[in-house]
Amino acid sequence: MKRLRLVLLALMLFACEQEMAEQPRYDPYEAAPGWPDDQSARLPVPGTVARSDRLEPEPTTLPVPLTRTLLETGRKQFDIFCAPCHGKVGAGDGMVVQRGFPAPPTLHEERLRQVPLRHFYDVMTDGFGVMYSYASRVTPPERWAIAAYIRALQLSQHGEFDELTPTQRKRLEAQP
Ligand code: HEC
Repeated sequence: MKRLRLVLLALMLFACEQEMAEQPRYDPYEAAPGWPDDQSARLPVPGTVARSDRLEPEPTTLPVPLTRTLLETGRKQFDIFCAPCHGKVGAGDGMVVQRGFPAPPTLHEERLRQVPLRHFYDVMTDGFGVMYSYASRVTPPERWAIAAYIRALQLSQHGEFDELTPTQRKRLEAQP
């Protein structure tokens, strides 16, 4: 009697395992007749919010004070993530470009000198043309730091002598 119960129990467990392994399901990308486009892989319903999505609107201008530390962070991140293509000064002549990747525009062209910082932020977030998105590698605060540093780079190439203070002028003139 005892043995019979054991056999029955084993059979029941086996049956249970069978049912889980064979429950109705779709294999990845399997066709699913009946859905509007016959595909089993469904898109999230409109309005779905990913856990990692930022819910508050992005600021339109630099959301933190412009400090030397911020610019130094920007330079570090720019040199790591952007300079390989854009070049250290932003002239569009980085090493990857020298090896055949399509050349980006120089960051010193008139249009890019006029765009708001938010444009650089958006280009990093969403990508631009053939340039892919940096959202997974550069955090939002780092994107602002890089944007501020790009503006500093632009100024570095377009500074006017007249804009310097007398002390700065003297230091510049003293240089060989
Ligand atoms: C793999 C090379 C590559 C890297 C790395 C790269 N870019 Fe680009 N970037 C490009 C190319 C190419 C374009 C031009 C894209 C086009 O017009 O199709 C571009 C365009 C741009 C533009 C100009 C957008 C406009 O309005 O014309 C900005 C600004 C920019 N990149 C910023 C950045 C920043 C900031 C980083 C670093 C976080 C970065 N890029 C990293 C290749 C790169």
